[in-house]
Amino acid sequence: MKSYLTGVFLFGLIIYIGASGGCASTEQVKGDVANGKKVYGQYCVLCHGDNGKMQLNGAKDITVSELTFELRLTLIKDGKNLMTPFDGILSESEIQDVAAYSMTLKP
Ligand code: HEC
Repeated sequence: MKSYLTGVFLFGLIIYIGASGGCASTEQVKGDVANGKKVYGQYCVLCHGDNGKMQLNGAKDITVSELTFELRLTLIKDGKNLMTPFDGILSESEIQDVAAYSMTLKP
């Protein structure tokens, strides 16, 4: 069993999102997909499975997700319902990488 110590880190990153989320019109996917894949294998497969389709703990099928890159960053940081907030567990760049990787799961 793991317990996730996240709460303290939320503030800083929320401010960061506020400061960096300027232009919503063009979708900017940045991040190292290869590294994102590693992060995914460590932290996301538990609920989403290798291919993103496993739906353990009420997880959604990532391959059909319509979420934009920006929204994924926020989701991964803040979590949602049973999804773990990864703020403080993953670094800013790891979150970017894994979000970028998650975009590639879409067929
Ligand atoms: C503890 C289980 C769990 C883990 C670990 C987990 N997720 Fe999730 N994930 C969920 C659940 C539950 C949802 C659905 C949240 C909701 O909308 O109710 C979800 C939703 C999502 C969605 C949104 C799909 C959509 O269209 O709404 C994405 C993208 C996602 N997860 C990516 C990730 C990534 C990337 C990781 C690893 C950093 C990860 N998840 C780790 C449980 C998990």
